[in-house]
Amino acid sequence: MSAFEGRYRQIVEGGLPGWFAEEHYAELTAHWRDRLTPQIAAGARILEVGCGVGKLAASLVAMGYEVVGVDISETAITLARRSVSDAKFEVANIGSALPFPEGEFDVVLDSDCLHHLHGAARTNFLGESARVLRDAGLLLVKTNVGEPPLEHHEMLGYDPGTRTSRRDGEIVNYYASAEEVLGELEAAGYRLDRVEHSGEANAQLLVDAIRG
Ligand SMILES: C[S@@+](CC[C@H](N)C(=O)[O-])C[C@H]1O[C@@H](n2cnc3c(N)ncnc32)[C@H](O)[C@@H]1O
Repeated sequence: MSAFEGRYRQIVEGGLPGWFAEEHYAELTAHWRDRLTPQIAAGARILEVGCGVGKLAASLVAMGYEVVGVDISETAITLARRSVSDAKFEVANIGSALPFPEGEFDVVLDSDCLHHLHGAARTNFLGESARVLRDAGLLLVKTNVGEPPLEHHEMLGYDPGTRTSRRDGEIVNYYASAEEVLGELEAAGYRLDRVEHSGEANAQLLVDAIRG
């Protein structure tokens, strides 16, 4: 069983709302409403990658968007299908091929998933996201960047040599620098439209990138 599947089974057993606490979903919804609605008209088709149990997808539907969510965890997708009937959900590993035709989406939205990919999976995802976006479509990324603080290294199973951390022996996080992420996006053919970087260590990077 993958580490993510294991985590969602714990989430179900613990009766938790999703990957995050309910208050954090309120913040996430406000973040994405402020970021999406001024530039993306209602009715746009959004692919949400790493959608988990569909908490954000439900908010995106309420904003008037047509939403397809994908996640690597079957348990998460089963829960998402049960709770958000107005969106579509598929089990998919975004580090390999995305199961959609070319130019299918106006927006690909990544809310805290990219930092879980490492190596070739990152290049594959960025290439695949560009393939499924229409011409001049938007990739919106919210991701963690930079190394974790030293005092968290042991708890996270962090290896500074590879800048990865593991759960149950599986690599589950990659700690890219902000510059590295921006370089990856440009190498995949994106034009950077808006970039916000909240700090140096263990920070958050927000990018709106336009498919060239
Ligand atoms: C930090 S959680 C965020 C989940 C969701 N965006 C939310 O806010 O509830 C990251 C999500 O990415 C998913 N994920 C990790 N690696 C993935 C991959 N290679 N393909 C698809 N989903 C993946 C995990 O299963 C998890 O649901």
